[in-house]
Amino acid sequence: MHHLGRFFALFVLLAGAVALPASDAVDGRTKKGLNLAAKAAKKLYLGTATNSEEWNDTTYYSILEDNAEFGQITAANVMKWFDTEPEPGVFTFQDGDVIANFVKKTGKKLRGHNCVWHNQLPDWVVNGTFTAPELAFVVERHCFELVHHYRGQVWDVINESLNDDGTFRSDIFYDTLNSTYIPIALRAARRADPHAKLYINDYNIEGTGAKATALKNLVKSLKRQGVPIDGVGIQSHLTVGQVPTTLRQNMEEFVALGIEVAITELDIRLLNTTANEEGLARQKADYETVISACNAVEKCVGVTLWDFTDKFSWIPTTPPNEGYPCPWDENYVKKPAYEGIIQGFQ
Ligand code: XIL
Repeated sequence: MHHLGRFFALFVLLAGAVALPASDAVDGRTKKGLNLAAKAAKKLYLGTATNSEEWNDTTYYSILEDNAEFGQITAANVMKWFDTEPEPGVFTFQDGDVIANFVKKTGKKLRGHNCVWHNQLPDWVVNGTFTAPELAFVVERHCFELVHHYRGQVWDVINESLNDDGTFRSDIFYDTLNSTYIPIALRAARRADPHAKLYINDYNIEGTGAKATALKNLVKSLKRQGVPIDGVGIQSHLTVGQVPTTLRQNMEEFVALGIEVAITELDIRLLNTTANEEGLARQKADYETVISACNAVEKCVGVTLWDFTDKFSWIPTTPPNEGYPCPWDENYVKKPAYEGIIQGFQ
């Protein structure tokens, strides 16, 4: 190679290495995006939940597909128990595989969601009359098969196991097995995939308080018993004007236990806050607050939105002053919240 050419190649390489994490230069223009902003802040990803039924909407799909915006995907529904084991011992991964294949094709990361949850269970589990050993076997088999099928991921093994006062939620699992279903599920997941990251995921644990304290105690006790636990997922279905002030302190208390945390289901709905300029500015500020808290805590590894457009959010929008929880509106126009996320990563 000619001397000058070599110099030029080196220059391009160095310039690329410096510029890449913050933004991809494309056609001389700087490409922006939520995932690029997260990566520039040394996070692993900014991602979103999705349902494949939404993909027929071509605008939706083109934003979802863009790795500048989203580096990680969570299946909003199809990896849940009702869809993956609709009959005892009959595993159906077709719907989940659609998500997993999209993730593979686009080179994003996948978060497995979830193994054990009181909701969206098949009837045979909810209405089952199991002895404790029978249900222990059922929980173990479900977690093992699921995590084994989708090897190499992060998993929400346990979802929403606590009440707001910090006691265990009464459901088929707790009522039959007491809290032993938690180590049973985590150990089965570890056996299924020694490399999977295993999380407990919950809501109303964003700020310090009875529920967050109970979860910290649960993590401590699991660790003491040698039960595998790698992280806590902080769902973060929040309301504008009601974001806890202790977000960062709370995350620091979780990671002090020797685990990582992730924001796993972020959306910030309006409630009695008109979706006018002022309401959307408050929403932007709240998004920025949440992202900044994660940004400030090294072991907060990433952030997942619980879908990205008001068009497909699970939070219903009732004009003029309720809902509208996402950073894109129902017509795919970026709201001020989008910029709030970018700024939170700075
Ligand atoms: C929600 C889905 O988004 C909805 O489509 C479904 O009807 C109910 O579940 N916490 C969780 C998620 O952990 O699995 C939930 O997802 C939202 C609350």
